[in-house]
Amino acid sequence: MTSRSQARLPLTHRLRRLRRSAAMRALVRETRLSPDMLMLPLFVCAGEGVRREVPSMPGVFNLSVDEAVRETAAARADGIRSVLLFGLPEQKDDIGSAAYDPEAPVQAAVRAIKRDVADVLVVTDVCLCEYTEHGHCGILIDGDIANDPSVDQLVKVAVSHAAAGADIVAPSDMMDGRVGAIRGALDERGFEQIAIMSYAAKYCSAFYGPFRDAAGSTPKFGDRRSHQMDPANAREALREVAQDIEEGADLVMVKPAVAYLDVIREVKDTFGYPTAAYHVSGEYAMLKAAARNGWIDESRAMMETLTSIRRAGADIVITYYARDAARLLA
Ligand code: PBG
Repeated sequence: MTSRSQARLPLTHRLRRLRRSAAMRALVRETRLSPDMLMLPLFVCAGEGVRREVPSMPGVFNLSVDEAVRETAAARADGIRSVLLFGLPEQKDDIGSAAYDPEAPVQAAVRAIKRDVADVLVVTDVCLCEYTEHGHCGILIDGDIANDPSVDQLVKVAVSHAAAGADIVAPSDMMDGRVGAIRGALDERGFEQIAIMSYAAKYCSAFYGPFRDAAGSTPKFGDRRSHQMDPANAREALREVAQDIEEGADLVMVKPAVAYLDVIREVKDTFGYPTAAYHVSGEYAMLKAAARNGWIDESRAMMETLTSIRRAGADIVITYYARDAARLLA
């Protein structure tokens, strides 16, 4: 007898009962997104009235300080409460000294945003790659990125961001010991209330390609394998996170997000710390490109992607889609 009616057992559980209407689905939804948890990255450049779209990242712009203030105010109106600033300096050198110039775009933008936009957290990316001629994240000695001299530079960058008024500094360089060094230097100067969000488990990823267009930070030679993590490793991510927490990180980050959902879950479950995940430029660009070709429904794919990052355990999602998602959630 193969007929279903003959073989049927009583169905105690009909899981479809809870999927019958929008209200029912909302009632039992396990994962929610809200604009509070979305952080918007901005690329700040010199000049005035500059709003230059990044070719590989439609909807993302290089913004002069005045435009960065306008963008932040608009994002705030959409419900976004935090921005992450990256800088495009006017000049680069071999030690990245423009990264700690108090008049550089990031420092100026921090001051302007804190002055003009109420109730928004300003987070700054701390790295040297946008500021060095060679495009590496630290100081080169004999062709190698020298860890401790690079940390000394990163400390200067973080202190200058704090002095400008940043609420959170976010070291993304992946040098060893930078979180502790930054914490010590901030405390010494009376910035003990400034938080550190460490890019703790940052992988050496092909998905940063479009960002490097946006920030002009492609290394002139070589790659970032000597400091960013091997994509094959998950347990090592736990050691990276443990070390950053020990050194004083207040929030920890996994990056990229979508290709590393398992790592987000492990980090959240192991440490229970506020955990951010960075939905990076390449992950954004792929959705944009497919949508532009009419191959996917962009809004649905965006929400599904951001929800998956949240479902994996992220408390904070850093995404170029922050404003679009916030508007959809309103
Ligand atoms: C380094 C930094 C990078 C990103 C954030 N901070 C690039 C890199 O490591 O090469 C990538 C972000 C993205 O791809 O959206 N300052």
